[in-house]
Amino acid sequence: MALFSFSFSSFCLTIFVIYSSLSLSAESRVSPIAPISSLISKTLFDSIFLHKDDNACPARNFYTYESFVEATSSFPAFGSTGCSATRKREVAAFLAQISHETTGGWATAPDGPYAWGLCFKEEVSPQSDYCDSSNKEWPCYPGKSYKGRGPIQLSWNYNYGPAGKALGFDGLKNPDIVSNNSVIAFKTALWFWMTEQKPKPSCHNVMVGNYVPTASDRAANRTLGFGLVTNIINGGLECGVPDDARVNDRIGYFQRYAKLFNVDTGPNLDCAYQKSF
Ligand SMILES: *[C@@H]1O[C@H](CO)[C@@H](O)[C@H](O)[C@H]1NC(C)=O
Ligand SMILES: *[C@@H]1O[C@H](CO)[C@@H](O)[C@H](O)[C@H]1NC(C)=O
Repeated sequence: MALFSFSFSSFCLTIFVIYSSLSLSAESRVSPIAPISSLISKTLFDSIFLHKDDNACPARNFYTYESFVEATSSFPAFGSTGCSATRKREVAAFLAQISHETTGGWATAPDGPYAWGLCFKEEVSPQSDYCDSSNKEWPCYPGKSYKGRGPIQLSWNYNYGPAGKALGFDGLKNPDIVSNNSVIAFKTALWFWMTEQKPKPSCHNVMVGNYVPTASDRAANRTLGFGLVTNIINGGLECGVPDDARVNDRIGYFQRYAKLFNVDTGPNLDCAYQKSF
């Protein structure tokens, strides 16, 4: 049952039969011989992020291909789970979500609104320090701001703390490092993507089809697809409303990138009819 939810396309099913006949577990489908560079070359990366190094972009020259590749080495299941189409779709979805988070695009921008991902390193006019002082596990350090930083715009003490712990820096005392070190910056985005934060599944498990929606997910229309990833990232603000401009921007990026990866987007792009977690 769950095995079928693993695949978005019949091509994947074919591969799955081969894998299952070798009786490999889901974990062992992570291939050590398929580094991320086999899915995304520097040329493809550059054609995705056409304007990230423009003078107009505050993050110019920060988000390099080499930093991205190095960061992925800490997350071996990223882009290496499932068949080729699944792996490409996951990477395209990840790059689309970080592009929306850091977009410098506008409707009539050169090369279109979806050619301007990775334009920003940090939130421009934060409305607060994003300190949830009721959180005692990850207490804020005096004078530090937990504003959005890096490709996923990591925010709040309760994200900086655990991200730093997982990645080997003090996220509470030294949140600035996320906008000073591009490998760490990409790692925070991958940490967010790969890590389940209950009751939400991880974005990774949704995109590779490892997640089986619960009864409450089904009642809330939270079925597998890119829309569910948007729900995980910012559903409280963006989902359950038709035609949300932010949701549409995420989808626009994903459609452009899926095309560049030569893969279909899969079903359920939107979260307009989903309840948030
Ligand atoms: C990051 O860079 C800014 C200036 O760009 C500097 O003020 C800050 O101290 C740096 N932080 C770290 C942790 O290196
Ligand atoms: C689920 O989606 C349908 C439309 O496809 C909608 O009518 C229904 O209200 C949605 N349910 C919830 C809980 O949002």
